[in-house]
Amino acid sequence: VLMREIIGIHKVEQQLSECLGIAETIIVPGDSDKMPLIKDEIGKACARRLEALLVEKNTITVTGGTTMGSVANALMEINVEGKEMIFVPARGGVGGKVSDQANSICAVMADNTGGTHRVMYVPDEVSDELRTILLKEPSINNTLTLIRSADIVLHGIGEAMKMAERRNTDEESMNKIIKRHAVGEAFGYYFDSDGNIVHKVSTIGLQLEDLPHFKYIIAAAGGKSKATAIKSYMKNAPRSTVLVTDEGAAKEILKGE
Ligand code: G3H
Repeated sequence: VLMREIIGIHKVEQQLSECLGIAETIIVPGDSDKMPLIKDEIGKACARRLEALLVEKNTITVTGGTTMGSVANALMEINVEGKEMIFVPARGGVGGKVSDQANSICAVMADNTGGTHRVMYVPDEVSDELRTILLKEPSINNTLTLIRSADIVLHGIGEAMKMAERRNTDEESMNKIIKRHAVGEAFGYYFDSDGNIVHKVSTIGLQLEDLPHFKYIIAAAGGKSKATAIKSYMKNAPRSTVLVTDEGAAKEILKGE
């Protein structure tokens, strides 16, 4: 029975990869919407996939969110012997809990792997004037260079409205997000169900157009409620992306096909 289940889930993983147009999908059983513990399973699966990619020296750039938080905790369980690990936040601080910020997550990841981390203490959203000034700041510029030179990107995918609320988005942007039917969010970009970018937060940090330059990209997002968000983002994702998700999201995505 177990073997059949394994073969079964493998087939669904292939179907999902094809449906989303990406290289690989890993599905953990369950639905993290119903059982929060499943998010930890996504974290563990993501950590194991990362472990397989590691070389002697690894620079990994990471976004924020609770799913990335689960990945950070799970990194305690992987083997990093003889490996140098540097974690760099892909962006500044979004709103919400401190523990969900990319900066904090990178600190936990470094702690759990005996590695080092950088910080980027800037707000997630900055005005054009401030961005020009901040980019002249050597510490910020160095971090940005390190982000772009990373080998691996680890990132979450969020539901558009939830992310807009987490960010304390101003009324004008909020109206845009609603009017243009945004459903998904990643890296500060909001996507409608056709994958069109309908709003973008002006950030310092990783931009969508930087993504194709990275060797490995792992996205971690699960729960039935994130199905449309995952689908919308994947229309923009590089083909090489590996998605780590759960059965709840996977079934819902495939149902629409
Ligand atoms: O960009 C998307 C968010 O990082 C997702 O956050 O993992 O807490 O749902 P979450």
